Amino acid sequence: MTTIPQTSVRGDWKDFVIPAAAPYYKEPLVLVEGSGSMVTDAEGRYRFITIRPGEYPWRNHYNAWRPAHIHFSLFGQAFLTRMVTQMYFPGDALLPYDPMFNCIANEGARQRLVAAFDWENTIPEQALGYRFDIVLRGREETPMEKMP
Ligand SMILES: [Fe+2]
Repeated sequence: MTTIPQTSVRGDWKDFVIPAAAPYYKEPLVLVEGSGSMVTDAEGRYRFITIRPGEYPWRNHYNAWRPAHIHFSLFGQAFLTRMVTQMYFPGDALLPYDPMFNCIANEGARQRLVAAFDWENTIPEQALGYRFDIVLRGREETPMEKMP
């Protein structure tokens, strides 16, 4: 199961809705109040439609802003196997300044946190598509946050 918390377009965590766009989507909207959950299919694929979250200020350093991102919490067969990561958007001007993104020393590993724009999953006149493959193990694994 994957849980996906994200901010609104304003970068805050207040509840938000996707008013006019919802009726046009063929698939159910998952994120309507800042977080949604889904179960992947047998091949581990997932898909959801949401708004692009906004950048938000944080007080980690002077004039600090987090780049737009979506959190992913991945659960195995038990909640104890939870893994957490973040997906960023390609070309975000804030990425070079973000301590969270840059705390990953390996450039290749950092880039695995950046989604790829995807025409195949772009919905004409409705939504841009991005692909974010999460690799759980191995040399190409997706960086995960350390759990306390
Ligand atoms: Fe965040």
